[in-house]
Amino acid sequence: MTPSTHLQIRSLAVNNFKSLVDFKLTLAKFTCLTGLNCVGKTTVLQFIDFLSQLVRGDIQDWLDERQWKPKELRSKLNPKKNIEFCVWLNDAKEKPAGQWEAHYNPFESRCTWERIDMLDFVLEAKSDEVRIVKVKNRSPGDKDWQSSINFDYQGSILSSLRESLLPKPVHDCKRFFDAAESLDMLTPERLRQRTRDANGSLGHGGRNLSAFLYEMGENGQSKLAEKLKKVYPNLQDIFVKSIRSGWKQLHVRELYGNTKLSTEALHINDGLLRLLAILAETASQHSLVLFDEIENGINPEVVEFVLDILLKAKQQVVVTTHSPMILNYLDDEQAKRGVMYLYKTAQGHTKSIPFFSIPSLKKKLTVMGPGEAFVDTNLTELAEEIASMGTGEA
Ligand SMILES: Nc1ncnc2c1ncn2[C@@H]1O[C@H](COP(=O)(O)OP(=O)(O)OP(=O)(O)O)[C@@H](O)[C@H]1O
Ligand SMILES: [Mg+2]
Repeated sequence: MTPSTHLQIRSLAVNNFKSLVDFKLTLAKFTCLTGLNCVGKTTVLQFIDFLSQLVRGDIQDWLDERQWKPKELRSKLNPKKNIEFCVWLNDAKEKPAGQWEAHYNPFESRCTWERIDMLDFVLEAKSDEVRIVKVKNRSPGDKDWQSSINFDYQGSILSSLRESLLPKPVHDCKRFFDAAESLDMLTPERLRQRTRDANGSLGHGGRNLSAFLYEMGENGQSKLAEKLKKVYPNLQDIFVKSIRSGWKQLHVRELYGNTKLSTEALHINDGLLRLLAILAETASQHSLVLFDEIENGINPEVVEFVLDILLKAKQQVVVTTHSPMILNYLDDEQAKRGVMYLYKTAQGHTKSIPFFSIPSLKKKLTVMGPGEAFVDTNLTELAEEIASMGTGEA
């Protein structure tokens, strides 16, 4: 498992990734993306997952899992060849820690230009050369270096450089993205699958859940069960067996009166599987976790429990939701900073705006809770209000 770092994404700018054309988004420690169907909420999670894959390399494998072709990453709404992006990072004290800017060529499956500026050190890779320059606080031991790129690689140059060559801040940047996990395709069928190894990741659609829980060890599993008992009072424990050939098999045990009930993953209810995945993620070493449609399959009574866990999580969390109820559990400050409204322009480009910076919503927030203000809003009229503001970009 790659340990997380204390970095966070402060904001990102993307041009030419699917519907993200001249798109900007600000992220908080907990961000909730909301908006109508088809506006690009899941696409944002896919883009962040793509960033993560860039530092891991092997873009082809990532595309194969999603059954996408390389050119499908580009926007069909834009004639540009490359995907361009810049991600700004904050440190644990929410001070700027650096930025990663790149041009990704989908046909070469790699960044043909990139610059990682971590304030003290800058890594620059272009055409056939990579170099590291120390820009601040130069001490005698620190050397600039440059090297020719005479090897093939996919994604970012960070996927291929020996880690010992990287100055710590640049290495931290790589670790941060490597340790991000996107659960944008979580399905009960995949969560039920048996797996051998998780290697610290829940995997595509959560298919490594059994092995992921196994890797947490008995201690981790019992902590998870303790938390779950708050909403599943009959739950006794969670256990994962390693069966023949290393397959991991998940069971939960419940107690009804004097009767003990042991249920194997294939028969565990969807909601519990999703909760297990969410809780296991927040107990993991991941730096950033992304959940699509967080309320899916979860009882309204359990939503508050989940939100509380996500708000207290040590990682940065981004969720998408269609449910105003989620917003009820945020205080006004969390809502102002973390609720981002996504919408599409007449050209089909995804845009974002802090939901409670829209004048009518800002006003409602003075007399209502964030969830009530959302319910009280007609989203079609909201589109007109945003259009009349002239700029809706974050
Ligand atoms: N290559 C592309 N270029 C431009 N737009 C694209 C591209 N691929 C997908 N889209 C657009 O993005 C939309 C899908 O966006 P996405 O799945 O992110 O929406 P969403 O907000 O998550 O919707 P829902 O709430 O229904 O899940 C597609 O319907 C299409 O309009
Ligand atoms: Mg979606």
